[in-house]
Parts: sequence; structure tokens; C-alpha cells
Amino acid sequence: MTRRAAITGYPVTHSRSPLIHTHWLASHGIDGVYERIAVPPEEADRFYRTLGDQGLVGCNVTVPNKEAAAAACATLDEAARAMGAANLLWVAEDGRVHGANTDGLGFLGNLDQMAPGWDSGLREAVVLGAGGAARAIVWALLSRGVKTVTIVNRTRSKTEELCARFGPDSKAADWGEIPDLLRTAGLLVNTTSLGMQGQPPLEIDLAPLPVTALVTDAVYAPLETPLLAAARARGNVTVDGLGMLLHQAVPAFERWFGVRPQVTDELRALLLADLGVAA
Ligand code: ATR
Repeated sequence: MTRRAAITGYPVTHSRSPLIHTHWLASHGIDGVYERIAVPPEEADRFYRTLGDQGLVGCNVTVPNKEAAAAACATLDEAARAMGAANLLWVAEDGRVHGANTDGLGFLGNLDQMAPGWDSGLREAVVLGAGGAARAIVWALLSRGVKTVTIVNRTRSKTEELCARFGPDSKAADWGEIPDLLRTAGLLVNTTSLGMQGQPPLEIDLAPLPVTALVTDAVYAPLETPLLAAARARGNVTVDGLGMLLHQAVPAFERWFGVRPQVTDELRALLLADLGVAA
């Protein structure tokens, strides 16, 4: 029987997940489909609780439903529990709905592939932004054993919410503290929308940052953001954000369809063409 999975959220029209999963279904010759299902927030709780009744083996969840999806699950993995948000759901044989969060794993998978060994001896990371992407990335870094993750955000209350969630190894700082923080950072991550096509660039002076530090951006359109270009020009290793999107899909596909897929250059090229972004 054809196994059905879907991206769910509100809206779901811009999601690239169908392209990724449909590519893997075809390349592994699996009898499955991956659809888009718009789930308005007011219907989210009922929808996720009754996932199995809708003929789905599972689904991905995007904004604004990740928190509601987590609340509707019978069990959650450690990441989803820590984040209070789920982006991967599946239906067990007994009909119960299980949830996980693979956004942080996507971040780790991308760096592991593109900058192997990036985390060895890494003690201090600076994360710019405190939205949904930051929540996943802070979890990911702490789960890898980074000693201090300092979160810098325009709106201080959101930084403090994240620090309350993740405990004393996460610290809040203000924009003006960036030069000091960069001096001892081994990793700089942008999770704000600054630098994205149509948005203002992220304007920070990288001069204090050691050239041995890794710089990565959750933004992937453009693929090389002004931040990454500036970092590369001064000799830092840089990793673009497209891989986070691709790698978060790996555990989902494996869960529903039983095969662990690869993030290949071919898949990256497919996404870049669809995004209209130069490689
Ligand atoms: P995502 O799910 O991609 O993380 P989000 O939750 O909307 O998206 O978060 C966007 C992030 O970009 C936030 O940290 C936001 O800062 P605020 O919390 O202060 O809104 C940050 N951001 C967006 N525009 C910004 C700007 N012009 N200057 C500084 N930060 C900005």
C-alpha cells in the first residue's frame, strides 16, 4: 500500500520538503507520496491527535504548529521535549502518535558533513537571533557538549526565554556585546533573517573573531550571505544554511519509509534550482 506522509502547517505552500522527500522516494523506488496539507492553528490539536485516522504514516510540522503538535503527541524524543516543539510525527502500530524534533539534528548533520571535526574542542558559540531556528540550534550545540552558548537578540525577552529553557550553559547578551563575545568564540551562527534576500544585511564587524572560528548562517537564500562572504574573505571556514534544511529531513524519511537517505550534491542542486539561487 502506498505510504502517505505530508508537510503540515499554515501556510505550507512555500515548503521545500515535498521536493526533498519526493526526490528520495523516486531515487529509492519506494511506493510513497509526500503531500502538502494546510492545517489552520485552530484545527491543529485535533489533526495531530488523529493523524493515523487520516491515512498518514506521519508528517512534518512547520510554523505555526510545532508547539501544538508537540502537545498532541503521546511521547516525544528528548529534543522535542527540550524545545517544546515537534517537527516530525509518526503513527505507531497501536495508533499512538509520537513526536520528535529534527531541526537541531539538521544543523549538526550539515556541519558534520561540511566541516568534519568542527565540534572538537569547541567551547564557546555565539548565536545571533532567538526565534525558532535559534531554539533548535542552541539545543543542538548544548547536546554536542559546547560549554557556553551565548544568545544575542534584538528583543531581550526572547533571549531570556531561551536561556530559561536551556539552563545555565546558555547565556543572554545584547547586540553591543558582540565584539567582546567574538574574541573568544569558536563558532558564530546567524539565525536572524538579516542577510536573507529582500532583508537588510547583517552588519557586524568580524575583526575580533579568531580566524580559526567557524561561521555559519541559517539563511540559505542567498547561499552565500554577506556574513559568510565577509567571513570567508578573512579566512574563516564557512558553512551555508541549505544543508540544515536538507539534513532535518533525513531522520523523517528514515522513520516513515525505512531507508536512511543521503544528502547529495544532486539534491542540493535540485533545491538551489527551485530556490532560484546561484550555487
Ligand atoms: P526563525 O523561525 O527563522 O528563527 P523567527 O522566529 O521569526 O524565525 O525569528 C527571526 C529572528 O530574526 C528573531 O531573532 C528576530 O529578532 P526579534 O526577536 O528581535 O524580532 C531576528 N530579526 C529579524 N529582523 C531583525 C532585524 N531587523 N534586526 C535584528 N534582528 C532581527
